[in-house]
Amino acid sequence: MLDAFCLKPFASNPIMKQFVSVKDVANINALVQKALAYKANPFADKSLGANKRIGLLFLNPSLRTRLSTQVAASNLGMEAIVFNVDKDGWALEFEEGAIMSGTTVEHIKDAAPILGHYFDILAIRTFPSLKNKAEDYSEMYINQFIKYAGVPVVSLESATLHPLQSLTDIITIQEDLNLHPIPQTLHQKPKVVLTWAPHVKPLPQCVANSFAEWVNAWGEAEFVITHPEHYELDEQFTKGATITHNQDEALKNADYIYVKNWSTYTDYGKMHTNDPKWMLTQEKLQLTNNAKVMHCLPVRRNVELSDEILDSANSIVTQEAGNRVWAAQAVLSEILSHQ
Ligand code: CP
Repeated sequence: MLDAFCLKPFASNPIMKQFVSVKDVANINALVQKALAYKANPFADKSLGANKRIGLLFLNPSLRTRLSTQVAASNLGMEAIVFNVDKDGWALEFEEGAIMSGTTVEHIKDAAPILGHYFDILAIRTFPSLKNKAEDYSEMYINQFIKYAGVPVVSLESATLHPLQSLTDIITIQEDLNLHPIPQTLHQKPKVVLTWAPHVKPLPQCVANSFAEWVNAWGEAEFVITHPEHYELDEQFTKGATITHNQDEALKNADYIYVKNWSTYTDYGKMHTNDPKWMLTQEKLQLTNNAKVMHCLPVRRNVELSDEILDSANSIVTQEAGNRVWAAQAVLSEILSHQ
């Protein structure tokens, strides 16, 4: 277990050349420790990013990711420039060999190397179409940036994953465990439950995929995923977790509940149910070990999560969103340390 707010030297990760999934992290606990050290001392490396620039490219809306990454860059003395590609940029073409006679104006092959000249790190947010599974799961957009930019690329959420969110989630669980250790008599490892929640429209699988991938790779939790029938996620991310359609069973003795809606993976991008019975309530919380409740936000109140839960002492969603800064700062610091 990690020391809370530990400022002692941490085991460094080997060179981090990009951050698009947990596979880019050699040592999750070291990165978590680094993030918590920055939380305790935000300006410890205030010169590390001096004379460096990060370009934050958004093809989709964002509140937390955009602002927390800007704050993280600023804490490291780095300049962050935000570009809303979807609103202010030329429409980009990503297909190799495309005959650009349609709506796209500039090929990624031309745009990305230019951005690589302007910036030392490029960070990109894209979303999936939720129409074409093969295309979304090929991660064409972010992979084309990686191929052509010539500088390290950081995912601010891609078609299938949201690694900065998942790193934040592990940081938040670890931070809470440091403050409130679970008695060994209760469990060997904390019980973490990812539960599907209702929503009004089909959402990407990114946050759920990524959370599953990170918790499995972290290996320090008993991990259970619960969702209605037809909502199975891609096994490449969930393998190792216990998966059940019985939410009450999953919630029994849970220490952390991660609430998230996602659309169907097999029958891709659909909404098969919107059953309100899947919304977490105080009654369901009684099944748990007084579990802490997490959500990546934004959240549809009283659809995905009730007011009674979000406004209760069990909710740690604000702390979790605050920790986005320290996750981003730890990642940028790793990349800058080797530039
Ligand atoms: N959780 C998250 O990524 O929030 P934003 O969409 O506001 O960045």
